[in-house]
Amino acid sequence: MKDSILVQFLRKPLTTGAICPSSRELSRTLTECIHIEEARNIAELGPGTGAITAAILSAMNPQAHFFAVELNEAVIPAFRRRFPHVRLYNDSAANLAKIMELESVSRLDVILSGLPWASFPDHLQEEILHAVLEALPDGGYFTTFAYLQGTWLPTGIKFRRRLEKYFSHVEKSRIVWGNIPPAFAYRCRK
Ligand SMILES: C[S@@+](CC[C@H](N)C(=O)[O-])C[C@H]1O[C@@H](n2cnc3c(N)ncnc32)[C@H](O)[C@@H]1O
Repeated sequence: MKDSILVQFLRKPLTTGAICPSSRELSRTLTECIHIEEARNIAELGPGTGAITAAILSAMNPQAHFFAVELNEAVIPAFRRRFPHVRLYNDSAANLAKIMELESVSRLDVILSGLPWASFPDHLQEEILHAVLEALPDGGYFTTFAYLQGTWLPTGIKFRRRLEKYFSHVEKSRIVWGNIPPAFAYRCRK
């Protein structure tokens, strides 16, 4: 219970950014239209207790290389209990380059994020997006969800503008109304 997303939201609202884990439908939506089944190197940023991780593991090629990066140490035990074979780093997504070195990976074909971008200040949005762009080859995919209500916040609007500035192609998925709160995925191609 102490490592649930709700308790973590009450303790760290800005870094957790959610009151409950993503629904199955939102998690599955995140893995669609990004050619994840062809990807050789995949990373997840901000997995929390692993709602999206489960969808990634069932969509990816089992031979692919996969790791995750989670900042909040309080949710790490729950993630490890659920996915004992997934390599998880207790670190910030901003340090992706360093973690890729530890993983002996020079490029990531697909990066999936559950990060709460609309809670992040400008400098953190820039820092993490820069790390993502450095990690992807041209043609690589980045996907992340956004809560509907967050897209009208100034930080949510700035985030969308950044995606449009940095990626060659950005599209939105359908809205998953059954998620709490309703959300959609941004699918971005470098
Ligand atoms: C909205 S929750 C999403 C959890 C899970 N992916 C899901 O969809 O249910 C955001 C997660 O991102 C993590 N997080 C926030 N800032 C981070 C950062 N800089 N690097 C890595 N993880 C971060 C939080 O600790 C939290 O677990």
